Amino acid sequence: MTGAAGFIGSTFVHLLHRDHDIVVLDKLTYAGRRENLPEDVELVVGAIEDRDLVLELAGGADAIVNFAAESHVDRSIADQNAFARTHLIGTGVLLDAVRERKVGRFLQVSTDEVYGSIEDGSFTERSPLDPSSPYSATKAGGDLLVSAHAHTHGIEAVICRGSNNYGPRQYPEKLIPLMILNALHGDPLPVYGDGRQVRNWLYVEDFCRGILAVLEHGRAGEAYNVGGPDECENIEVVRRILELTGADDSLIEHVTDRPGHDRRYSLSSAKLSEEVGWEASVRFEDGLRRTVDWYRENESWWGPIRSGEYREYYERHYGRPLAS
Ligand code: NAD
Ligand code: TYD
Repeated sequence: MTGAAGFIGSTFVHLLHRDHDIVVLDKLTYAGRRENLPEDVELVVGAIEDRDLVLELAGGADAIVNFAAESHVDRSIADQNAFARTHLIGTGVLLDAVRERKVGRFLQVSTDEVYGSIEDGSFTERSPLDPSSPYSATKAGGDLLVSAHAHTHGIEAVICRGSNNYGPRQYPEKLIPLMILNALHGDPLPVYGDGRQVRNWLYVEDFCRGILAVLEHGRAGEAYNVGGPDECENIEVVRRILELTGADDSLIEHVTDRPGHDRRYSLSSAKLSEEVGWEASVRFEDGLRRTVDWYRENESWWGPIRSGEYREYYERHYGRPLAS
């Protein structure tokens, strides 16, 4: 499992490690942490672009699941280099290793953002790829490489495109944990533009169950959407977080919009439901409450993050320091 010291990959490992032998390859960027993983899981610290290392680790693997990514749109707008390296070069190295080391199955973890923004209706797997940020453009490039390798070399590769995830252990640069921690600390809540953008929220464990279903039952060469059960405008997400944390509405601050901001994401997961029987089980209201509770109870997890690299990132990006 590559990139599994991050948010989604570590959740996947927690679900599986008791029944499977798992080796995690992770570069431990700002977003990856050893503490995210169960203690009995082996972690190799390194990059997926490191061909020799990847070839060595791939020998004897039944499957590779690729979570490794630079995952934040705002950082890709500031500097796209690491995004291109990891999503394009790195994914290519993993695909070479699947072929050369005869790995049984490869799963690429991808995102709804490769389809771009949609005003009405929902994207299916037949929708054209139309990414609009450097993050989503390089993720789309990675997906195309996977499809091309399945087509040309006949490798057993599948793609899973998830909508916006939320839940425990998400780095606080993302909307939901950022707003929860700011609300708990009495920091302003920076809403981009009018806050009417819509995201399709997926609880992280539901995404991981979808990934496992596709790994086990997905047809080679195919992509599968994994969309959350609920859509919500950002401003409504923020209001619900204020209610759950008991913080005051006056903390909301509308700030300059993200350049090229996608207005709405929406996925149809009909193919996944019909072919492998997956359904999302956690509604947004319930998942958000659980997530707020988790951040309340796990200062030992976010404390070191909020006082480290994140602080500098926050000040650079938002033009003001965290107040507390
Ligand atoms: P994350 O930022 O929390 O974790 C990414 C992990 O990848 C980190 O542990 C990091 O150290 C590691 N990594 C980065 N570059 C690497 C490299 N070159 N080699 C090895 N390891 C590297 O991200 P996440 O939210 O867990 O996302 C995981 C995957 O899911 C990504 O592919 C992302 O595009 C996709 N995805 C995320 C969301 C979401 O809402 N977060 C939604 C859909 C899909
Ligand atoms: P984000 O969590 O960055 O995910 P993505 O851009 O991949 O969807 O952002 C979710 C939404 O929240 C997106 O419309 C941008 C918005 N947003 C804010 O309004 N303020 C913020 O400080 C952040 C980080 C995001």
